[in-house]
Amino acid sequence: MSTENRSNTGEAKHILCDDHDLWADEIRFFDVGGDKIMVWRDKEADLHAYTAMCPHQNRDLEETGERESFCGVHDDDKVMTCAAHSWEFDLETGEGLNPSGPELEEYEIGIEDEQIYVVMEDDGE
Ligand code: FES
Repeated sequence: MSTENRSNTGEAKHILCDDHDLWADEIRFFDVGGDKIMVWRDKEADLHAYTAMCPHQNRDLEETGERESFCGVHDDDKVMTCAAHSWEFDLETGEGLNPSGPELEEYEIGIEDEQIYVVMEDDGE
């Protein structure tokens, strides 16, 4: 994984993978300098990047995350549920659906030179 520093912002672009390696409606998890992130490419091919750690008790959504809603009526395609205690999040925004309030931290994500990158704090690595 390569990193490109941004001057004066304390942030850096981190290359995650080739653009063609993430398909529509696919979720993948990446380790970026010790921080785990979750990337979803929606059905329109837009990219979304969030922390992969549930804000309730910091459980890893790669292990506890389910693509369905357990509580209430939601669009299952766009809901990530932490199966540990059934907290639900909107994959389009990271906002908490159940309960409302807590949200997944979102990161800037994009494509450059046919590679997907995420912008996160530069930890100097
Ligand atoms: S740790 Fe995710 S809902 Fe409790």
